[in-house]
Amino acid sequence: LNNVINGHQPERLLPLLILVAFAMLVQRGLDYLRLLLNNTFEQKVIFDLRRDLYSHIQTLPLRWFDNRPTGDLMTRILEDVSSVERVLIDGIEKGTVAILQIVVVVAGMFYLSTKLALVALAPMPFLAGGALWYTLTAHRRYRLHRRAASSMNSLLHDNLSGIRQIKSFVREPEEDRRFNKESDELRRATFVITRVWALYHSSMYLFGSLGVLLVVAVGARDILSGALQLGDFGAFLVLASFLYEPLGKLHELNQLLQAGRAAGERVFEVLDSEREPEAGKTFADSVRGEIEFRHVSFSYSGELPTLNDISFHARPGETIALVGTTGAGKSTIVNLLTRFYEFDSGEILVDGSPIRDFNIRALRQQIGMVTQECFLFNGTIRENLQIGKPDATDEELLEAAAVANARPFIDRLPHGLSSVVGERGVKLSVGEKQRLSIARALLKDPPILILDEATASVDTTTERLIQEALETLMFDRTCIVIAHRLSTVVHANQILVLDHGRIVERGTHDQLLALGGKYARLSEQSLLKTPESEPTIKRVRFPQSATFLAGAALKIANALRESTSIWRRGKRRPFAAHRRA
Ligand SMILES: Nc1ncnc2c1ncn2[C@@H]1O[C@H](COP(=O)(O)OP(=O)(O)OP(=O)(O)O)[C@@H](O)[C@H]1O
Ligand SMILES: [Mg+2]
Repeated sequence: LNNVINGHQPERLLPLLILVAFAMLVQRGLDYLRLLLNNTFEQKVIFDLRRDLYSHIQTLPLRWFDNRPTGDLMTRILEDVSSVERVLIDGIEKGTVAILQIVVVVAGMFYLSTKLALVALAPMPFLAGGALWYTLTAHRRYRLHRRAASSMNSLLHDNLSGIRQIKSFVREPEEDRRFNKESDELRRATFVITRVWALYHSSMYLFGSLGVLLVVAVGARDILSGALQLGDFGAFLVLASFLYEPLGKLHELNQLLQAGRAAGERVFEVLDSEREPEAGKTFADSVRGEIEFRHVSFSYSGELPTLNDISFHARPGETIALVGTTGAGKSTIVNLLTRFYEFDSGEILVDGSPIRDFNIRALRQQIGMVTQECFLFNGTIRENLQIGKPDATDEELLEAAAVANARPFIDRLPHGLSSVVGERGVKLSVGEKQRLSIARALLKDPPILILDEATASVDTTTERLIQEALETLMFDRTCIVIAHRLSTVVHANQILVLDHGRIVERGTHDQLLALGGKYARLSEQSLLKTPESEPTIKRVRFPQSATFLAGAALKIANALRESTSIWRRGKRRPFAAHRRA
């Protein structure tokens, strides 16, 4: 520019401008590339970390989940992962740039004037001390912050899941208060962080500015005494301003690092948790489904025993019914068979081999479960059924639904199999959910079946529909049935009566009635309910049960009867073909 203006050479201006424009283009182009690469890398890291975390969470034992609120896990997967990632990416990018800048600037400063360079670096011990203090104390604050965020999210998740209860108990104002309290904790935790950061950040900049001031003071004196040229001093001042900017960045990075540390702790706590064991043999092609419990004891807490010396033997195809008062340990027994929890002593055998010798997933593959609360995922009926058999065609799904007596209501829905059931299946009735669960288990077609009957009462017609569906499902499988209905128990090969984690009586229905003990009392009480309109229990009577369905539904039912009988005779068991010769 000096040449252009002083030398009166306007023709040299254009190439200069073009050069500058080109430099700008290169700069912005590189910036674009940096942003793009950074973001791609960032998203990839987040994706990988989330994938690892989720996949690890899925392999953790149920006991681990018992003590962790879903909201907390969600916070870890969503927020904490991002926080960890930010340290990795921003830390690497900004940190490298800042350190490089500092090295170059300091080298330049020493080149220009060693004395001034030393003066400029005088605030360094204070800056380092401040950084050390911040690093040592920030961790606690960030930890509290993460805990508060997790706590708020947990409450939020819990309350949103329980919105029906909140409404029915008219708890909105209280829940508002509870939420606001958690939210306020988070606000406070954030505020503490910000307050300390504001102090730290400002004082660090103050020390930086004082450094510059010191440089000006010493520099001015040197200029006056003629020891320093004005040009060198100007250059030095420009350099000095470049020194404190990356230092500020390093402080910000430190903050990021502390936040990431607290978040990383939570992410790695999950990743370090021990998975369910993976080793073990697989099953032979034809699983017989023999189950034996030998003196099994178990405790959830490690203190009070939940199950005490449980022994029973179910030959292939037999049905064992578990009855007993609530909390007696019935669901716990089946939780041990599926290895949802690991028993403390004794042995559980399937087909003569201890279940711990099998691969845990292979074992679960052999067991169908219709649980006490029939959980459906928020998707279509088709997706929910396909959990039982992922490659099932619509025909197969409908066939299974028909056998489970779920077909009539699926056909009534405007979108049939494509109807969305809502979270946990809220858009369906309990009876409908139960029948879908049965259809799902039917599609899985396992040699061993666990039925944890829901205690929720359904009307007698639905009850009978479910009963029929169950009987089809139970046919030709080894079943453990936790029964609340007399109709389910009465045909069992063996009934085990549980009381406080012990088997107190065992035998068939008639034997136990004759014994006149707890079972006899239970069956007198409402704990074992006999459907009102069905005083004597007989095996499935399909046509009668369908009479409640008007016109068209009756036709469907008749069609179903065809398929049901085929299913039951085992002539056509498409889902079993691969398993049984
Ligand atoms: N995950 C768990 N952690 C700790 N204790 C548990 C857990 N699940 C159940 N328990 C306790 O173990 C005992 C047996 O529970 P279980 O669910 O086996 O009862 P149940 O016989 O199935 O009762 P119900 O008929 O009401 O379903 C109960 O006292 C219960 O409080
Ligand atoms: Mg139970």
